[in-house]
Amino acid sequence: MIYRNAYIENQKQLSDITTEGGRIVRIAPSDQTATKNANETVDLGGKLVLPPFVDSHLHLDTTHTVDPAESRGTLWSGIAFWSSYRDTVTKKSVKENAKKAVLSAVLRGVQHIRTHVDICPARLTAMEALLELKDELKKIVGLQIVAFPQEGILSYPGNKERIETALKMGADAIGGVPHYEYTREYAAESMKYAVDLAVKTGKLIDVHCDETDDDSSRGLESLAAFALEAGIGDRVTASHTTAAGSYSDAYMNRLMRVLVKSKINFVANPLVNLHLQGRFDTFPKRRGLTRVRELTEAGLNVSFGQDDVKDPWYPMGNGDMINVVHTGLHACHMTAYDDILSSYKFVTVNGAKTLNLRGYGVAEGNPADFIVLNCADFYEAVSERAEVLYSIRNGEIIASATPCRRTLKAAGLF
Ligand code: FE2
Repeated sequence: MIYRNAYIENQKQLSDITTEGGRIVRIAPSDQTATKNANETVDLGGKLVLPPFVDSHLHLDTTHTVDPAESRGTLWSGIAFWSSYRDTVTKKSVKENAKKAVLSAVLRGVQHIRTHVDICPARLTAMEALLELKDELKKIVGLQIVAFPQEGILSYPGNKERIETALKMGADAIGGVPHYEYTREYAAESMKYAVDLAVKTGKLIDVHCDETDDDSSRGLESLAAFALEAGIGDRVTASHTTAAGSYSDAYMNRLMRVLVKSKINFVANPLVNLHLQGRFDTFPKRRGLTRVRELTEAGLNVSFGQDDVKDPWYPMGNGDMINVVHTGLHACHMTAYDDILSSYKFVTVNGAKTLNLRGYGVAEGNPADFIVLNCADFYEAVSERAEVLYSIRNGEIIASATPCRRTLKAAGLF
C-alpha cells in the first residue's frame, strides 16, 4: 500500500509512505514515487503523519469506577473513595472498565500505554485483569504495566512481596511513591529498593515521585542518584515530580546536576496535576506542574500522560493526547510557535523513549505504525484540535474518523 502526499512530522515537503507485510519499506518525496494501481494507493492530500500517540502514564485499574456526578475532584476525596473501593473489584469489572478507557484512547490515535496498577490489595485481582487485557488487545495497543504501591513500598505491609509477585506474573515495571512514605528515610530507602530490584530483574522503573506541593519532598534526588550509580537511568522514569514546581531555584540548580548525569525520564500529567495540586494554597495558587521547559532544555526526556480517565481523582478525560498537550502548553508557559509545533514529541517520540520502545517511528524498516491527522502540521493540530483520521498499525487501519464539517447558514452575509 502507498500512502501518498503526507507531511511527516511537520516536514514542509510531501512524502509517500510505502508499506508491505506490516512494515514501512520506503519513504520518498511524493514526486518520485511511481504511480500504482489506484486500489493500492491512499491519497492523504497533504495531511500530517506522526508516529502513533503514546500515553506514558494512565491508571487503568481506577478508570470508570466512580460516577462522575459523585466526584468531589480532590486528591483526598479520591484516596478516601479508592481505599474503601479497591478491595471490591472483580477481574471482570476491571477488564470492562479498563477496556472502555483503552478503546477511547485507541480511537484517538494512541497505540502505546503505560499503566499503573495498585498492588496494595491482598489479592492482585486488578493486576491479573490488566495482564489478561494486555494480551487480548495486543493487536491494537501495546500495554506496559507498572506494579504501583499506592500507599508506599515500606509504609504498607506486604508491598515489597506483592511488587515482586506482580513482576513474576508479568508486570513490566516497578513503581514507588516516596512522598507518601512515613518518613524521608523510608522515601530514600524505597528508591534504593526499587533500583536494586530493577538491576536484579532487568525490569523498568516508574515512580510516582514527589507528587506534592511540599518543597521539602526529596524522592527525586534519591531516585536519580541511585539510578546514576546503577547505570540504569534510561530505564527509569520519575512521574509527576510536581514538587519541582515549588523548589527554590537554588535547590533546583543543585538537583539538576544529578538529573542530567542520571539521564532518567520524566512524565508530566498536565490535566490532573493542574487541578489536584495547589489545593493547600489560597492565593497565589501554584500551577502544580513539574519544570517541563527547564528539564527539556537541560536535555532530559519529558513526556506527557493522561493520568486519569473518569476515576476518583479526575471526572473527565478520554485519552485524547492532543487535549493533554493543549493544556500542558498553557500550564507550562510553552506557547511560542515553535513550542507548539514541536509539542507532538511529548506524546509521541518522548513517550516512546520513556517506555523503552524499539522500532518506533515513521522510518523505513520499522513496523507500519502511524497516525494521520486532519491538518498539515502540529501547530494546526493543537490550535484546531484536529481529528485523527486514521490510526494504522502493522499496515492495517485499526481506527478512523470522519472529520466534523461546520456550515455557515447566515443568509445574505456572504
Ligand atoms: Fe499517576
